[in-house]
Formats: sequence, structure tokens, C-alpha cells
Amino acid sequence: MNNLVSMSKIKKLKALPTLPVILKRLYDVLQDEDSTFCDIAEIIKYDQAITERILRVANSPYFGHSGRIISIEQAVMFLGYDLVKGICLGATTFKLLDKTKRSIVSNLWKHSCEVAIIAANIADQISNVDRAVTFVSGLLHDIGRVVFLSIDSESYLQLIYNEDILATEKAFFDIDHTEAGYSYLSSARLNEEIIATVRFHHSPSLCRDFRETVAVVSLSEGLSRMFFPRFEDDGYWSDELDAVLLELNLDDVRLSRIKEISMAEAAEMEALLTL
Ligand SMILES: [Fe+2]
Ligand SMILES: [Fe+2]
Repeated sequence: MNNLVSMSKIKKLKALPTLPVILKRLYDVLQDEDSTFCDIAEIIKYDQAITERILRVANSPYFGHSGRIISIEQAVMFLGYDLVKGICLGATTFKLLDKTKRSIVSNLWKHSCEVAIIAANIADQISNVDRAVTFVSGLLHDIGRVVFLSIDSESYLQLIYNEDILATEKAFFDIDHTEAGYSYLSSARLNEEIIATVRFHHSPSLCRDFRETVAVVSLSEGLSRMFFPRFEDDGYWSDELDAVLLELNLDDVRLSRIKEISMAEAAEMEALLTL
């Protein structure tokens, strides 16, 4: 690819994060130190689909508040800003794509939910990791692939099943999906831990901060291929992940427990978050 073409693609990529109005308003409120749960709820409740999804998630036994949350105010309070923003951002970004890409997108979204669930279940087994932040990082980990689909779906669909996906993306777009996701989420002003985790989810050893969360999500990406194989997963195993397993002290017994719980929870979570 010549330089001119590649530059214009990157320019297009940088320009892409034109967030839905609801998210822009949400971020403005979150920047304001005096804002309250009510201000946030006031914005979200104008979007019926997002409101419904957040209430469904908030009421799922998965988050431990089964059937008790009836308003967005309560959901924001119980689930936390990061989880609510992450669900809004993930759902609205996936929806930016046109309907003809629906089956690919829905499988990518399922893969994202599966990585989120595995990550949250690993987080339960170790200390120092926030379950909600880990879950959202898993949900958004491959958002860069959606960015590529938004920029040039025809080309990306040709290379999406390539085994060496990072190198293939780099050859075509000049950056891979971890960098594309980082660029996209940075402009969305998400929590830096989530942004760093998305950026380093295929190269955990390069990350200096938030090491545990990055390690958990990287490992979950690798395990997703074993637990939930899909054509759309990019969970190839690397030597780095062997090191992560040791670092997190996860032996075969703990891993098979994580697999069992994740498999039991995946279908329900996918249904809750279905686009
Ligand atoms: Fe990935
Ligand atoms: Fe992935």
C-alpha cells in the first residue's frame, strides 16, 4: 500500500470516533465534578434501547442485584460509571455498522461478551483486580476490529479470519486492532485502565501500569479460543500467556473451574447484551 493511501486511512480512523450524541452528553456530565447519578440517568433514559439493556444487565443474577433495580439511577449507582459507560459505548459502536454485516458483528459481539465473562471470573479468583473494570475491558477489548469494519468493511472481511491477524491488519491499515481500539477509546475518555487494557491485550508484557487487569484480559482472549471457539475469535495462544498463567498462579484445577462457570454464564450474558 502506498503512503498516500495509508495516510488517508489513518486520518479517516482518527476522525471516526464521532460518538453518538448520547455518549458525548454522558461524558460531558461525567467531567463535571458536581454531577450526580440523576444527571447521568437523565441522559441515558432518553435512549430506550440502552436503558432497557442496562436495566436487564443490572438485574441479572450475574451482578448480584436480581430483580431489584427499576431505574437507571439505581443501575448507575449499583453497576458503577465504568460499567454503564462501557455497555453504552460497546453497544452503540457495534450499531454504527450497517445491517448487512450483522452476522459477523453479532459473532464478534458474542466473542467480546465471552472474553468479558472469562475475565470477570478470573478476576474473582485473584486479588487487586476490579471485576467491573475487567468485565468492561473484556467487552471492549476488540473494539478496534469494529473500527476497521466501519472504515473498510469489504477489505477487513477478507482478512478477519487470517491467523496472524495483527500483522495482517498492520500491513493493510498500518496499525493493528489494539492500536485502533486505543485510539478510538482515548477519544471517548474512558477510564485509563480500560484503555490500557484494550491497547495491550495482545502484548501484556509491554504494559507498565494496570498489569494485573491487562494480564487477566490477555489471558481471557487466549482462553476464549479454548472455551468458546469461533471463526471470529482472535484468541491465539502466545508464550506471553504461559508467563501470565504463572504470574496469576492459575493451575489446571482453577482454570477448569473458570471454564465451567464461564460456560454456564455465557449464553445468559449474551442474551442480556444482545444488540
Ligand atoms: Fe484482540
Ligand atoms: Fe478478541
